[in-house]
Amino acid sequence: MRSSNLSLLALFSAALITTALPTELTNFLLVTTNQSTPTSNSSSLRAVSATSLFDPFYQATLYLRLTGPGYGSLPNFTLSSGTLHTTASGPHGIGIFEYNSTIVVNGTQLGFVAAEQPAGNLALDGGYLLTVGGQKEGWAICPGDLEQEVLFWNKTEAGCEKTYLHAVKGAPY
Ligand SMILES: *[C@@H]1O[C@H](CO)[C@@H](O)[C@H](O)[C@H]1NC(C)=O
Ligand SMILES: *[C@@H]1O[C@H](CO)[C@@H](O)[C@H](O)[C@H]1NC(C)=O
Ligand SMILES: *[C@@H]1O[C@H](CO)[C@@H](O)[C@H](O)[C@H]1NC(C)=O
Ligand SMILES: *[C@@H]1O[C@H](CO)[C@@H](O)[C@H](O)[C@H]1NC(C)=O
Ligand SMILES: *[C@@H]1O[C@H](CO)[C@@H](O)[C@H](O)[C@H]1NC(C)=O
Ligand SMILES: *[C@@H]1O[C@H](CO)[C@@H](O)[C@H](O)[C@H]1NC(C)=O
Repeated sequence: MRSSNLSLLALFSAALITTALPTELTNFLLVTTNQSTPTSNSSSLRAVSATSLFDPFYQATLYLRLTGPGYGSLPNFTLSSGTLHTTASGPHGIGIFEYNSTIVVNGTQLGFVAAEQPAGNLALDGGYLLTVGGQKEGWAICPGDLEQEVLFWNKTEAGCEKTYLHAVKGAPY
């Protein structure tokens, strides 16, 4: 009786651990938060915001912007060879392409192009925290085109706010 109670307890703790820690996600959404620790429910991340792709002037490079409640859908991503991949329509909504992230450079926006890319410098630390060259800190929410809030790497100008990028399974709202 006692040992079966113990093994039940072990099973129960194992279940708790698997729900508390994010599993390695192969297909995920990206959200901004000012919290570096993971949660099982993205809704409870501190100062959380969903993100979506943004093509302010029908240019070739898509950017990531913050998106409040009331969006139609959110882009999902996979990560391989240090590069994020997602599916999006081309300029003026023509065609559907696989967009790949470009190598993240100091002081520039996270960008995506519909072209093959060399191996990038992105990774998911602990299976959830998006890093650049292994660094977790450096993402910033800054004012972008058309009064959108966009994501820069290592931009320290006034008006930018430090953030973390989490890979999550479900939308926060
Ligand atoms: C996450 O939390 C929110 C708000 O606390 C809740 O409405 C939602 O149902 C939760 N989602 C899951 C998958 O548990
Ligand atoms: C994170 O955001 C929340 C809500 O906006 C704020 O109360 C908190 O001070 C922020 N924490 C940090 C470390 O910036
Ligand atoms: C990812 O997004 C694409 C395009 O919006 C959609 O067709 C697909 O069902 C999504 N996949 C998952 C696993 O959510
Ligand atoms: C980001 O800035 C830090 C210093 O703030 C620097 O050490 C690091 O090399 C920069 N990262 C990249 C990828 O340039
Ligand atoms: C990146 O920018 C940070 C902060 O502006 C600076 O401290 C760092 O030296 C830069 N690193 C590189 C590799 O350019
Ligand atoms: C994006 O990269 C993938 C994998 O490297 C490649 O198969 C795909 O063709 C690229 N997208 C485009 C539009 O070239």
